[in-house]
Amino acid sequence: MVHVTSPPNTAPRPMGSPARLGLDLLTRELGLLFGCDYNPEQWPREVWHEDVALMRAAGVNLVTVGVFSWALLEPRPGHFELDWLGDVLDLLNANGIAVDLATPTASPPAWLGVCWPQTRAVTAEGVRLSHGSRNHFCPSSPVYRDRALTIARALVDRFASHPAVRMWHIGNEYGQVCHCDLCGAQFQIWLQRRYGRLDELNRAWGTSFWSQRYDDWAEILPPRAAPYLINPTQTLDYRRFASDQLLALYLEQRDLVHAVAPQTPVTTNFMGFHPLTDYWRWAPEVDVVADDTYGDPADGDSPLRQGLAHDLMRGLADGAPWMLMEQAASAVNWRPHNLPKTPGRMRLDSLRAIARGADGSCFFQWRQSAFGAERFHSALVPHAGPQTRLHRAVIAHGAELRLLNRVIGTRVEARVAFVFDWSSWWAAEEPASPSDRLKVMDQLLAYYRPLWRAGVAVDVAPPGADLSGYDLVVAPQLYLVADEEARNLRRVVERGGVLLIGPFSGVADVDAHIRPGRFPVPFADLVGGSGEEYCPLPDNGVPVRSVELGDFVSTVWGERLRLDDGEAVATFAGGDLDGSPAVLRKRAPTGGEGWYVGTVPPQHVLDEIVDRCMRSAGVVGAIGRPPGENPALPDGVEAVRRGDVLFLLNVTGEERRVALTGAHQDLLTGTLLTGADAGGTVRLGPEGAVALVEVALVDGVPVEVVT
Ligand code: GAL
Repeated sequence: MVHVTSPPNTAPRPMGSPARLGLDLLTRELGLLFGCDYNPEQWPREVWHEDVALMRAAGVNLVTVGVFSWALLEPRPGHFELDWLGDVLDLLNANGIAVDLATPTASPPAWLGVCWPQTRAVTAEGVRLSHGSRNHFCPSSPVYRDRALTIARALVDRFASHPAVRMWHIGNEYGQVCHCDLCGAQFQIWLQRRYGRLDELNRAWGTSFWSQRYDDWAEILPPRAAPYLINPTQTLDYRRFASDQLLALYLEQRDLVHAVAPQTPVTTNFMGFHPLTDYWRWAPEVDVVADDTYGDPADGDSPLRQGLAHDLMRGLADGAPWMLMEQAASAVNWRPHNLPKTPGRMRLDSLRAIARGADGSCFFQWRQSAFGAERFHSALVPHAGPQTRLHRAVIAHGAELRLLNRVIGTRVEARVAFVFDWSSWWAAEEPASPSDRLKVMDQLLAYYRPLWRAGVAVDVAPPGADLSGYDLVVAPQLYLVADEEARNLRRVVERGGVLLIGPFSGVADVDAHIRPGRFPVPFADLVGGSGEEYCPLPDNGVPVRSVELGDFVSTVWGERLRLDDGEAVATFAGGDLDGSPAVLRKRAPTGGEGWYVGTVPPQHVLDEIVDRCMRSAGVVGAIGRPPGENPALPDGVEAVRRGDVLFLLNVTGEERRVALTGAHQDLLTGTLLTGADAGGTVRLGPEGAVALVEVALVDGVPVEVVT
């Protein structure tokens, strides 16, 4: 059997809305989705009846079933036992609970790896992984793929027309890499498609370096354990290939479902900014963009990280609704030290997703496992049972989600785009670069923080996306950029918008070759200055002078820049970089601005830079005021406007007040807030949240304002 990988990623990245089935097929009937993974195979049948009764009481309307059931559905090769699953689906259907039915292909049964050892993945060190955990499959193994399709087909044939099944969930959290010979052979095919001729590969990989030239495609290997540094373009291409190879697995199962049930949406669960899968390439292939977000309650930045991941999902869905497929109701089990979520935190995390464009908020998992690796992972029904604080909070949250159905299908309108690209992330963090302290995710978060604080909506977009609708485009660290993508970014300034570029950007081309010339080569004329040397900074940092931003000390990263025809907004003052600009800006005749931050300033200085960019771009926050203007949003209040609903989330443990003009009604409590209440402010208790719609008072009666 020949397995064909998906096309190598030389094609332009998605720019528009693909025609696809959407969440609306589910939400039209069910309202906002609220549910969880459900693993009835871990429990005796009598528990199933209690489960569905409790699910009904909690307002659960969608459960994902069967994710890890392969060994129970096919205990021996070709011997299927599907009846128990049929009983589960019947029971759920009889209780009005819809099912997102999984193909159980993430965790193959023991027999597969025992009978066909080559179905098990191999690490870069050459260790073949064993069963006994999950996700041990090799994505290139013809036997694995064949068997995965076989079990998927058995489920589709049997259950595609079952009335409970409203969505299909292919595999689970695709995101691993295998280095075996089968993957090596597939990699060679992928490379032949990408480069056509071996000469072209030798050029792209720069194989004149260290005698790495290839004379035959068959000589090319995955990046495996080697004595010293590996060719960086080889590594980059392997990451591209590995993502495509997983996508190919997803696609063949998706196509199987589509062929039988063309009207049933198919999805798989993404993992936010996952390092092993290029979701810009995946997103056009899913009918529903679904994500797993596991915010860490011990991390003060967790609300920002989650917000950014949700904004990415919205970008992946081209602005259309997406769904939160998994989150923890309380603690996870897989960090070294797992703080539980308070009920307030659980609610905030869930509402954040809804505010940021999700039409569903689901959890992992329904009933807490009594055994297995996830026995200490929280669930909607804890070991202690339903008479618990956690389960009561779940019921209350399910009830309040039903009050938010008016947001279904609505969008978050953003005037700010954040440019992010997986190839660029991968290439930027290859070893043997000027510093391993400059991290793409750190930069993304640092540039996102002031926007989050100001309640300014951000869409995450690939560098090739249509950016014409954005007044401000931020590329916090775009190391690798293709020529056409660079031209796309330049157009932002050329049409009068603001482009803010962070350090170590525009460095490399699509092959990860350094662009020769004064950097940032594709943008230097746009930002009015150019550089010649990357200069990671000593541990105690280097002073920087700035009239506009105030003096500060930069750490981690510097660049030897010179001023050409722009302005030096900040200048190094001391050390070897003395006199070299640290922050550049150039105003274009179009009224646009190009900014380049060739350093890592302290957060408060970066806040000021981003704030100035927002003002230049005329961007306002969700409460309608320009960022930085008083009264600003109080610290720790997240504000997002979705459709005509203004979500205010207080992520702190203290009371917060937000000044608003006009009268509003809170959808969650029905409370009417007139301008006169509490001096025109909305009071948010600790970890409190409101979902406000604007109302007019006609004879003291609230009437919705139609905008
Ligand atoms: C997800 C996974 C679930 C479960 C969960 C625990 O990554 O999809 O199956 O393991 O994590 O947090």
